[in-house]
Amino acid sequence: MGKESKKGNKGKAPGIIARDNAVMIKTTREPYNFVADHGSEEFVYDIDGNMFIDFSSFISVYNFGVNSSDAVRKAIAEQSSKLMHSAFTDYYAEPPVKFAESLISFMPKGFGRVFFSNSGTEANEAAIKFSRIFTKRNYTIAFYGGFHGRTKGSLALTASKSVQRAYNGPFPDVIHVPFPYCYRCPLKQTYPDCGFACIDYIKKYPLSKEVDPKEVAALISEPIQGEGGYIVPPKDYFKELKKVLDEHDILLISDEVQAGYMRTGKFLAMDNFGVKADIYTMAKSVGAGLPLGVTITDKRLGNIPEGSHANTFGGNLAVIAGAQAQLDHISRNKKKISEEVAKKGKLAKKRLEEMQEQYEIVGDARGIGLMLAIEIVRDKGTKQPAPDIREKILMESFANGLLMLPAGESTIRIIPPLTIPDHSLTKGLDILERAISKANVESAKRR
Ligand SMILES: Cc1ncc(COP(=O)(O)O)c(C=O)c1O
Repeated sequence: MGKESKKGNKGKAPGIIARDNAVMIKTTREPYNFVADHGSEEFVYDIDGNMFIDFSSFISVYNFGVNSSDAVRKAIAEQSSKLMHSAFTDYYAEPPVKFAESLISFMPKGFGRVFFSNSGTEANEAAIKFSRIFTKRNYTIAFYGGFHGRTKGSLALTASKSVQRAYNGPFPDVIHVPFPYCYRCPLKQTYPDCGFACIDYIKKYPLSKEVDPKEVAALISEPIQGEGGYIVPPKDYFKELKKVLDEHDILLISDEVQAGYMRTGKFLAMDNFGVKADIYTMAKSVGAGLPLGVTITDKRLGNIPEGSHANTFGGNLAVIAGAQAQLDHISRNKKKISEEVAKKGKLAKKRLEEMQEQYEIVGDARGIGLMLAIEIVRDKGTKQPAPDIREKILMESFANGLLMLPAGESTIRIIPPLTIPDHSLTKGLDILERAISKANVESAKRR
């Protein structure tokens, strides 16, 4: 690689990375050495002043621009000078109540009751617990490839990579079933000829041979699988699935942590499939850059017994102030945001589909709104996943000023802030395409 490849490998970055390696527990660091320093709008800068176009939204957190808006930061600063933390689950305070009311105004009819926490995993922990309390049933169904968090309860639901679960099982109260990953159907079927064989499977096996449906509290699903590889189910999938769940009074939990909050152009990503869930969870973008998890239940489910769930920081006033400012912005501009996401999503998806046509290593291009991805393969015929080629594309794009994230076995996500102007979106896609083109040539030589 040329001079650009020095990004992250000279200046202050290597020293910080060495210190990090010495004191931090290993997590999930990317192959490139990005040491964050500052950013705004669609741009982010590393510690050595290198600028990148952000196609990651810092893991889907900055839906409305890197470091959020002036209004969000001002609201956080003002609230911080009054009172940051008010022990909201013990004492009362107005801002979290107002924020819950505002959130409810975006929800389907009949919603709801709100619980605040600090992350996606906690939002899902609460959803599992509430669903079991509401139904007085003990099992949860989740999907292979699904990602719901890394604390014990949500980890039981997560089946994205076995390393995440290692040494922590068994998880006896969760049943995993195949997700409609039609590009690589786990049941070797073809949609739509399959007639949703994966739903028949749920009825025929787990719900008849493994557990009585009357013991199942809920099924949890991401509307679009995120960490699992940006997998979009067929349009009618959730409608068909919901019929089965309703037959047995099994609740549907929609994990909107990554796909929700306007990412697909809709406030709730499940709305893309015309289905109303019973419980929704959110995090990531809802906090506008600060930690906030939300669990919202349908009012008809009632309430939980006092004392059965709470936390220390949920409803933190400084966090809520920023979240409220951001939600007020969404409220005022919802139609415009939806239209812009649809327009930009169309532009980007068309480019990705063209890349899929042109390059042997781009097996699939998919997504809704600005939750987009390409799946990298050795060749289109075998569809063999190619994580090594994906890494080369990520590294090359990084060297040329584009920050992205992988997902699944060999997928690259394209999730810029929803506010990205067309020219930066196009510039980022150009950088990505050049990296793909280069990797495609190298891969052809080896074929
Ligand atoms: C769909 C989904 N659910 C839950 C989580 C867990 O969120 P957190 O990392 O905030 O615990 C994530 C994180 O990536 C996610 O994508």
